Amino acid sequence: MSDTKQTIINWYPGHMAKARRQMQDDMKIIDVVVELVDARIPYSSKNPDIDALAQGKARVILLNKADMADPAVTALWKAYYEGKGFVVAAINARSGNGLKAVNDCIMTACKEKIERDRRRGIQNRPLRAMIVGIPNVGKSTFINSFAGKAVAKTGNKPGVTKGKQWIRLNKNVELLDTPGILWPKFESAEIGQRIAWIGSINDQILVTTEMAEKLLCFLADRYKGMISEHFGIDEDVSGAEHPGAELLSRIAVRRGCLKKGGEFDLERAAAIVVDEFRNVKIGLVSLERPDDIA
Ligand code: G4P
Repeated sequence: MSDTKQTIINWYPGHMAKARRQMQDDMKIIDVVVELVDARIPYSSKNPDIDALAQGKARVILLNKADMADPAVTALWKAYYEGKGFVVAAINARSGNGLKAVNDCIMTACKEKIERDRRRGIQNRPLRAMIVGIPNVGKSTFINSFAGKAVAKTGNKPGVTKGKQWIRLNKNVELLDTPGILWPKFESAEIGQRIAWIGSINDQILVTTEMAEKLLCFLADRYKGMISEHFGIDEDVSGAEHPGAELLSRIAVRRGCLKKGGEFDLERAAAIVVDEFRNVKIGLVSLERPDDIA
């Protein structure tokens, strides 16, 4: 494991343990777990621990920030997670696109519970949902957009930890107002890399020329023509000893990234590449596909 990854993991254990305990408590009182993942990395942004934590609960996966991802790949991910038994929707929590479907997703995921309640003569008991996801995936944005005007909170309830607040969305669904936070799992170098590319971990230590070079190689390989069109460079680096470094140098030239004395300023070029990627100026990109996961 690199020093950088070690550092990140060491920063969080206290928070992680506390958040996990909190989530375990909250799980006892909810019916459905609505898990947000980043549509650009629906696998790497999904914490696998949630499957154990949420055992026995209805499950919904929302592929958030779908506005930043490659729509064709997002469709593959939707099918992938549906195949695993989740109810799935692609959304843009910031603009509200796709949010209309979420209520139906929750109802579909809770079909069995609704049926069970009905058989027992229980009617109109709202489903209780909790939002979970890794930091920066859009949980707060989602809660604000989804709850919209329904932010009138329902207050404490008997049997519920004091201070827990529910947002009554409609007659069918109540939302726990505090999301469950999980940390990403750096199970492989690739996963760490993809999480870094989308900017979900501290930049100061992570924006490196190496990170930009690898991103350029990924884009040149998977999204042919995208970087040549965006940066106005020739992206054919076949034969180059270090293709990523070569691409970055070409961008440095194109963007006039020079240090005093005329040397290329590769750090500045790297920062430009990463920044423009994250701001979706280069294009709609998905950083992983289901068939990468095998
Ligand atoms: P969190 O609670 O899970 O930690 O995430 P949060 O809602 O704070 O969202 C993190 C960032 O992601 C925010 O941007 C937010 O606006 C953005 N975001 C959330 N959902 C979407 C989405 O579907 N599409 C896009 N494009 N962005 C989304 P920020 O730059 O940190 O803040 P701000 O500039 O929006 O204030």
